[in-house]
This record gives sequence, C-alpha cells and structure tokens, in this order.
Amino acid sequence: MIGFIQQNTGREWALKPVKVGVLGLGTVGGGTVNVLKRNAAEIARRAGRDIIITHASARDLSRERICSTEGIILTADPLILINDPEIDIIVELIGGDVFAKELVLKAIANNKHVVTANKALIALHGNEIFAKASEKGVIVAFEAAVAGGIPIIKAIREGLSGNQIQWLAGIINGTGNFILTEMRDKGRDFSDALAEAQALGYAEADPSFDVEGIDVGHKLTILASIAFGIPLQFDKVFMEGITRITPIDVEYAEQLGYRIKHLGIARKTPEGIELRVHPTLIPDRRLIANVDGVMNAVLVKGDAVGATLYYGAGAGADATASAVVADVIDVVRALTSDPENRVPHLAFQAAFLADIPVLSSDRFKTSYYLRLNAEDRPGVLADVTRILAAHQISIEAIIQKEPLENETAVPIIMLTHTTLEKEMNAAIAEIEALLTVAGKVNRIRLETLG
Ligand code: HSE
Repeated sequence: MIGFIQQNTGREWALKPVKVGVLGLGTVGGGTVNVLKRNAAEIARRAGRDIIITHASARDLSRERICSTEGIILTADPLILINDPEIDIIVELIGGDVFAKELVLKAIANNKHVVTANKALIALHGNEIFAKASEKGVIVAFEAAVAGGIPIIKAIREGLSGNQIQWLAGIINGTGNFILTEMRDKGRDFSDALAEAQALGYAEADPSFDVEGIDVGHKLTILASIAFGIPLQFDKVFMEGITRITPIDVEYAEQLGYRIKHLGIARKTPEGIELRVHPTLIPDRRLIANVDGVMNAVLVKGDAVGATLYYGAGAGADATASAVVADVIDVVRALTSDPENRVPHLAFQAAFLADIPVLSSDRFKTSYYLRLNAEDRPGVLADVTRILAAHQISIEAIIQKEPLENETAVPIIMLTHTTLEKEMNAAIAEIEALLTVAGKVNRIRLETLG
C-alpha cells in the first residue's frame, strides 16, 4: 500500500468522478480503455479525481475487442453518448472527417469537452470546431492526432512557447517510413513493402493517404498552426508521395551519404511559410535520418532552444492511447479553470492568429538530388550543366554511373545547392526536352536540417 503525503488517499476525491464516453472501440479506442483502466489509480492521483469510461459506441457490437468492456455501457449509436447529460468528455476515435465532424460539433453544442485522435478532422475542420468550442467554453484536445504517442503538440504549444519557431521537419507517417526502411535495408520494392505494412495494421484504411503524403499533410497542417500561430490551412500544403521512389535512388542516396525520408516540413521565411510534404534526402549523420521502421520523429528548431528532436511510436493501440489519455487528464485538470485562461487550441490566442501567407511550391527554396538517364557521348553533360547554370542552379556533386542492365543510357546523379523551386521546374523541363536525355528527370528534394 502506497502512503500519501497529503491526507487524500487517492481514491476518496472531494470532486465526483469525471465521466467519459468513447466513440469507436477499434485499435485506439481499445487501447484507450485499456490504459485508462490499467492506470486508473495513477491517473486519479495526477488528475485529482477519478476518470471513468461509462459508455462506448462501436459500429459492430459483436466484434472481438482488444479491451475488456466490463462496466461500460455499449451501444451502436454514438448519439446516446453525445446526448447523455452525465457524460463530461467525449473521446472521438472513429476517424474520417464527415461523420466525426457532425458528432464532435454535436458534442460541443451539448457543452461536452472533446478529445480526438483524428488528424483529418482537425486539419480540415479544426478552425470551425475550435471557434464553436470557444463559444461554448469547452476544450477540444488532439495530441494523438500527430505522431501517436509522442507529445509533440504539448512540446510545441507549451514547452517551446517562449521561442520563435523557425522550422520543423517530421517523419510523421509510420507506414511510409516502414516502406522506405524496408527498401533500403532489404532492397524490397515499394508494393511489396506496402503490402507488409498493411498486413501489420499500420496503414490507413485507404493506404494512398499514407503513401501519397495526405496523412503527413494533415499532421503537418496541425503542427504548422501551433508552431507559427496561423489558421489551419490543409488546402495550401504541397504534397508529394513516395510512390516514385525506386530502390536505385535509395541506393545512390546512400552512396552519397544520404537517407531518403518522407518528411513534412514547415518553415517560416521572410516571404511566408513553406508547408511541404515530399521524399527528402537528409545527411545520414543526422539523428532523424536514423529513425527507421514505423517509428516517428519530429525535429523542431526554436530561436532560443535551438534544434530539439522528439522520437517515439507514431501509431499502435497503447502508444496512441497514451496521448489520448493525457488529453483526457488535461481536460479534467482544466475543468475548473476559466475558459479564457486555458492553453489556446492552436497555441496562440485565437484573436491573434496571423495571416502570414503560405507560399506556393514554386517559391520554395531547397536543394535537390537529380537522376537522369543520358546518352554516353561528348557534350551531353555540358548541355545539362549549361541549362542548370542558366537558371542559377549551382551543382554540389555530380556522378556518372555504369549503365543499368540492358540499358545503353548512363545514369547521371547530381546534388545541387539551394535554389528556387520555380527555377528547378524550368530547368527540369528543358533537360527533359534534350534529345540526348531519355525519359523523366527523377527529382528528390534535399535538406541538410542543420
Ligand atoms: N497510418 C498512420 C501511420 C497511422 O502509418 O503513421 C498513425 O497516424
């Protein structure tokens, strides 16, 4: 039996228990029930009162669960929870952005606090949801929406709140990172690695969200808003997936001392904010370059603290539940505080969100890895470098490889210094038009993250 320094024994709280209703009992819902039950005593000591799940809703009540539902009233109708006056907090874990939005807005209208792991919901509808929540004086918490168990939202919103955030870069999709890691370590091809990620249960219901960068785009939208104090603007995120990455690029990158990672990057520049998702070469000596498999990591650069790195599980039942439950505890702690003085949803006071422009992709500044196939004869390379020079693109490294099996053209790989994306787009179009260059130029952006 643990003794307590204060008279309170840990189970006899002055305040009545907080009642929670969970919408969705899949992987994250099941994990949330497990963690809240398993750690109930510790959680009560942290929150200052007991937190109990009284109700849960699930589409298919007959399905086998990863959690025990003993003591929880189960229903197929989420509105029963949302309309129950006894429930204080609704935990939304059904995913998707249409029905989830309807349910969350109804919960807010009924004066309930909301905790969600739904990145699409927040990225697409967060501005509207937070406005409604503020009108009602309720909290909408969403730590689990980005990077699963890593408390990255709290880190940026609270831990780094004294800084001007300059940029952040994250590996925030475990499926994509697993695929790239398998391609590099085992030379596996893309579709083969994706099939395994799906079988392991990491991928989204629609895996194109993982591999086309949409899932990263949702998460980046959220991170950028809390980093820079801007409204959520998913429609302005540049997104390029990993489907065109080939094992050969992974190998060439490796030979040049780089790893290819699918990054979400948000950077504040004097012209505006870059919001971009794309495969990126990063020096293999960087810690983040060594984040492999399904793991996630986010690098955040603040003007005062410098670069900070956050690493951990970005998906999975218990890891995501860790963030969901922390949000529930935060809500409970804040229940008695004045709504005007709570931590703002997007880190900055709602009335002071800035209208800094989000830049179109042609205004990005970055370095590049280029791979092209050219005829092996005099003058070809000179044509290519002349085009680059005409667009003020400076080459950092260049290598010519042996022709691939059954090919006559030789692969040429170049790394460039930082340049404007608009200039690179124009240069690539001109290079592809050369009669001596076969097919498309394969372009992968490169960041030193220094
Ligand atoms: N599909 C996501 C991933 C799940 O692979 O990271 C967590 O958001």
